[in-house]
Amino acid sequence: MSSNTTICVFGDRESLSDATAEFIVAAAGQAVRERGRFLVALSGGGTPEPVYRLLAGKGHRQRVPWPAVHFFWGDERCVPATDPGSNYGQAKKLLLDHIDVPEGQVVRIKGELSPEEAAADYRRRLANFGSGERDWPTLDLALMGLGADGHTASLFPGPPARGEDRLAAIAVTADYQGRPADRVTLTPPVFSSSRQVLFLVYGAAKATAVAAILGERADPVKWPAARIQPKTGELILFLDEAAAEQL
Ligand code: 6PG
Repeated sequence: MSSNTTICVFGDRESLSDATAEFIVAAAGQAVRERGRFLVALSGGGTPEPVYRLLAGKGHRQRVPWPAVHFFWGDERCVPATDPGSNYGQAKKLLLDHIDVPEGQVVRIKGELSPEEAAADYRRRLANFGSGERDWPTLDLALMGLGADGHTASLFPGPPARGEDRLAAIAVTADYQGRPADRVTLTPPVFSSSRQVLFLVYGAAKATAVAAILGERADPVKWPAARIQPKTGELILFLDEAAAEQL
């Protein structure tokens, strides 16, 4: 665990979701004040759903400068946007359909394409936000989930996939809980260059993975979330008590 790591433990999923929505409101406000825009990568899975609902709701919606927000995704399953397994489709239904964000600022991964085509297409569009030697944006915030097996985004246990250390986005195949296996994911260099990386984790099933990735010598092959190592940015974990029980 590096010195720029912050761990916050909440009593239950509801307070974790509330705190996350507040965190995003504050991060968006600060980024827009300082740099005129907020670049955020969303995650899929069930964990962030209440957060997306909260952001779209009355208490939060008016407090985010949506016209200055650019949405990206940490990963996508290769299914059409209308499929219930689509991460973009999930965010669209719960959040994007309820806010005033210009369509051109929604940089989705085209899950309807083949994984290789979708990854190449995403890389091209990410490169429009690159600067210097980077072919990708410096994200203000990367929202991450965690699997019980230690995966995050679509970075799964096993030796890193080809291109994972140098390309912005790659195609991968992985079976997890019967979810769509063909996927596209951002890579560790992109996540690790973000200003803030926020992991949201709840439930006892993930307690072993949480303890492993925070360990002194976490094995990044076994626990892929340990591949995310912000260099100058902050690593933040929002956990509920069950997820934190092995710390
Ligand atoms: C995805 C993800 C993935 C997810 C974890 C946790 O598209 O599947 O982005 O990395 O965050 O699998 O999923 P849950 O929140 O459903 O446990």
